[in-house]
Amino acid sequence: MTSPSFTATAEGPARQANGSAGAGVTGAPDPTVSADSAGVRHLVSIADLSRDSMLDILDLAEAFKEVAERPIPKVPALRGKTVATLFFEPSTRTRLSFETAAKRLSADVMTFNASTSSLEKGESLRDTIETIDAMGVDVMVVRHKSSGVPDRVREWTRASVVNGGDGQHEHPTQALLDCYTIREARAERSPADPPEDLSGLRVGIVGDVRHSRVARSDVLAFTALGAEVVLVGPRTLLPPSLASWPAKATADFDDVLPTLDVVYLLRIQNERAEGALLPSLEEYHERFGLTRERARRLSPETLVMHPGPMNRGVEIAPEAADLPASLITRQVRNGVLVRMAVLFHLLGAGATAGWDERDDAAGGTDESAGDRTPEGAGE
Ligand code: CP
Repeated sequence: MTSPSFTATAEGPARQANGSAGAGVTGAPDPTVSADSAGVRHLVSIADLSRDSMLDILDLAEAFKEVAERPIPKVPALRGKTVATLFFEPSTRTRLSFETAAKRLSADVMTFNASTSSLEKGESLRDTIETIDAMGVDVMVVRHKSSGVPDRVREWTRASVVNGGDGQHEHPTQALLDCYTIREARAERSPADPPEDLSGLRVGIVGDVRHSRVARSDVLAFTALGAEVVLVGPRTLLPPSLASWPAKATADFDDVLPTLDVVYLLRIQNERAEGALLPSLEEYHERFGLTRERARRLSPETLVMHPGPMNRGVEIAPEAADLPASLITRQVRNGVLVRMAVLFHLLGAGATAGWDERDDAAGGTDESAGDRTPEGAGE
């Protein structure tokens, strides 16, 4: 395990040339190097993070990989902290990986279920958030079908807010885990010279880009880390304007396919669309799906990705999803590591979240601060 790779400066931690993980000698990340020097308390958009902050999170996730391989994959880094998962829309991967990540950092987890909550009795979203805030929460992970809800939630709580996916807007932790997974796969191919970022890669994001929060966050993250992105899909599923998308677009999948290092498939987001988007799913599969035939034409080096949930037989043939170069299962596994890194990045080094400020104002002390060290890791 590498030694700490960041150097504290007046501006905050600076990356060292090796760009390796910020791990302490015990094998757990060193909390003294992980707080966001830019004062980031919330993660609503990839735009909240500088390129260096993104790389810090990927390096932290790399350090947590060793923790995940321990017989007891747990460190006391966030003991005394509480992470609430507030999902107003269904989720399997994001919710469970955030809850697993929080538990592996020894945080307490509060799970909110919209369908069995007092929302059903007419309580407003704001009153719901303020009620949960009053119980003492350090992080709220929020998913909602409406774009902008996590941004509003920030105004109603002292907790750090992490966007777990809002409408068609963004899904920043999905983008971070995607970046981590691509970087990891590239590093395995060149272990002597592992790349720090995604420079030199051409990523095709294929399918329903228009309604996809994953696509928006991925384009921002991939390009911030040096990749080139081309969006592929029928006109009805591409953004009406590319003004805010640092990417090219095409409707000719077969034309760009041989040029891609990463083929990133998206599900058709019927739940976010108004009216029928396509004449038929069969025709869509033939023109824009990663069919068995297209999969046969891929170089073995081409990485295949999908954020899930997949509709096998629509955007991706079952055989293509299970190719050796498919990273889809790995994306899910890495989701836990990256979400551990995000939680630690926001809270790990005594970040000045609202509850600490409140305690200070009341003359109290943060008794758990001494426990948020790497010592005792592996409990
Ligand atoms: N990728 C993703 O957000 O999956 P879930 O909807 O299952 O969380």
